[in-house]
Amino acid sequence: MAQITFNVNGEKRQVDVDPNTPLLWVLRDELGLTGTKFGCGIAQCGACTIHIDGVPQRACVTPIEAVSDSQVTTIEAIDGAEAKAVQAAWVEIDVPQCGYCQSGQVMAAVALLRENKDPTDEDIDNAMSGNICRCATYVRIRQAIKNASATLKG
Ligand code: FES
Ligand code: FES
Repeated sequence: MAQITFNVNGEKRQVDVDPNTPLLWVLRDELGLTGTKFGCGIAQCGACTIHIDGVPQRACVTPIEAVSDSQVTTIEAIDGAEAKAVQAAWVEIDVPQCGYCQSGQVMAAVALLRENKDPTDEDIDNAMSGNICRCATYVRIRQAIKNASATLKG
C-alpha cells in the first residue's frame, strides 16, 4: 500500500492503495465516481474511458501510480463547449439503449471533437472503434457526433 495523490476532476485526492491498482477501481471504489464503467478489464471495450491530461485512456489498465502527476477527468466532470454539444446531441438523438457503454462513448466523442470539430464518417469510425456497444447504437452515436459537430461549427 502507498499513499498516492492525484488530481481528478479538478480536485487533489489522496488514496491509500497498492500502486498497481487500476485507476478504474480507485475512481469507483475509493472515490465513488461510478459513472466510469467496468466492461472487460483488458482495454478492449472502452467502457472505462476517462481523460488523462485531455487524452482518452482506458482506466482499467492504467495503474494509479501512473497518474500521480496527471489531470484525470471522468464523465462526472466533463465540461466545455464540446462536452455540452455532445451531451445535447446525445439527448436529442436519444442515443443510449441499456446505457452501459455510454459514458465511455461520450468521453471518446468529446475527445474527438476537441481535436477535430468537423469529423468525417471515417474519422468518427477511427476515433470510436475502441468503444464497443453491445446494443449496437453505432448509427445513433455517429449521428449524434455529427449533430454536435454542427453545433460547434455554428
Ligand atoms: S473495461 Fe476498460 S476497456 Fe473494457
Ligand atoms: S447502449 Fe447498451 S452497451 Fe451500449
